[in-house]
Amino acid sequence: MLSTQTRTIVKATVPVLEENGVTITKLFYKNMLGSHKELLNIFNRVNQAKGAQPTALATTVLAAAKQIDDLSVLLPHVEQIGHKHRALQIMPEHYPIVGENLLNAIKQVLGDAATPEIINAWAEAYSAIADIFISVEKKMYDEAVWPSWQPFEVVSREQVGSEIVEFTVKPKPASGIDLDRLPIIAGQYLTVKTHPSRHQNQYDALRHYSICSASTKDGLRFAVKLETEKDKPNGLVSEYLHKDVSIGDELLLSAPAGDFKLDEKLKNQNEIPLVLLAAGVGATPLLAMLEEQVTVNSKRPIIWIQSSFDESSLAFKKHVDEALQKASNSKKIVVYTESQSRIDDKFLKENVPAGADVYICGSFNFMQSMIDHFAVLKHQQDAIHYEPFGPKMATVKV
Ligand SMILES: Cc1cc2nc3c(=O)[nH]c(=O)nc-3n(C[C@H](O)[C@H](O)[C@H](O)COP(=O)(O)OP(=O)(O)OC[C@H]3O[C@@H](n4cnc5c(N)ncnc54)[C@H](O)[C@@H]3O)c2cc1C
Ligand code: HEM
Repeated sequence: MLSTQTRTIVKATVPVLEENGVTITKLFYKNMLGSHKELLNIFNRVNQAKGAQPTALATTVLAAAKQIDDLSVLLPHVEQIGHKHRALQIMPEHYPIVGENLLNAIKQVLGDAATPEIINAWAEAYSAIADIFISVEKKMYDEAVWPSWQPFEVVSREQVGSEIVEFTVKPKPASGIDLDRLPIIAGQYLTVKTHPSRHQNQYDALRHYSICSASTKDGLRFAVKLETEKDKPNGLVSEYLHKDVSIGDELLLSAPAGDFKLDEKLKNQNEIPLVLLAAGVGATPLLAMLEEQVTVNSKRPIIWIQSSFDESSLAFKKHVDEALQKASNSKKIVVYTESQSRIDDKFLKENVPAGADVYICGSFNFMQSMIDHFAVLKHQQDAIHYEPFGPKMATVKV
């Protein structure tokens, strides 16, 4: 239990941290990754370049500082981050490295203002926060459907949209995984550990990919969009998977993770419709959810809404149609942004029934704008579920 004095000091320093939070975390990453090069095998260096992870960490540290009187209110956020940490195989021994470097960065940025009392209070607070993460993550490691990184073989590759390739993988015998007994929760993601050789890269690169089918009959399926941005190098791992990974190759995967899943208690009823709202490659987890829903209860009303640039980039057309055919009450709407207006509150008002349970997946901008539109429509907040393909905290206002 943190002392009253420690909690008072931590709360009193929140405004200073708010002012310097992003500078502190950027310095923290620079120092930590400079002195612990082995961590470059875990952290996504493009996220560092873009500042996404530093913002997420700063937000979380501030949220923790504000809630220092009762850290249990952070638990839902810790669980969500814990899934990512477990998927990336972050271990308890990593926490002191982060703690030491975070405190050093605070000292460096605040200079004389960082008195020994302040530093000690933050050391205690960090330790309390780290203990919560470690205990939440221990449960996740215990419950993971396979330990650590296990070898899988690519058994099929299929182009499922102009920029999207679907991979089907099966566990290699050395993994000891029995595919037929693997519990799959639609909405969860796999994490792939790769070692792309581009630009003499010496480090592993880890990325998450959503499982795109509820069935494991032919293997585990995930689909990858080739990430391209004007005037930027192509995405490291998506380019590697698209160009260099073929049938027969091995991929190392950590066990499915994530808390994006259908509301269990609504699957078997037929009054509250399921709305699946996808943009681009964001269709991946939603397709698995669609398949799961029609397998469990095909009578529940389902509305599938998919936004895509044009017809050639529309992903999973065949798979979506096959799954929707099994539903007795379904509607499919496709919006091509090349020629139609984007999805806005008017569109959502017309097409999403009030009270529907809604699952959204797509780019950050897409998801943030959908969340904002639903807020305008006063759609029940706990009926909106979403999965950004990047740090989730950046989308959430804590
Ligand atoms: C929970 C979750 C589920 C996901 N599911 C899927 C999925 O099902 N399918 C899928 O395709 N993706 C999915 N993703 C995204 C995926 O994990 C990767 O982030 C994505 O494939 C990009 O990785 P990359 O290595 O190819 O790109 P990175 O190398 O990480 O680059 C990302 C982007 O930055 C640009 N870039 C490269 N270098 C720089 C630079 N120096 N400065 C600025 N920009 C730069 C690249 O062009 C690229 O567009 C998911 C992510 C999460 C968190
Ligand atoms: C209490 C301490 C920590 C906090 C508050 C924290 C917070 C976060 C947050 C908010 C995210 C983004 C989650 C998301 O994607 O939604 C994240 C991701 C991540 N964390 Fe942590 N974390 C902590 C400890 C650690 C440790 C000890 C390590 C390993 C050294 C680590 C490595 C990572 C990595 C690799 C990611 C993925 C993002 C990327 O690759 O850029 N974290 N963490």
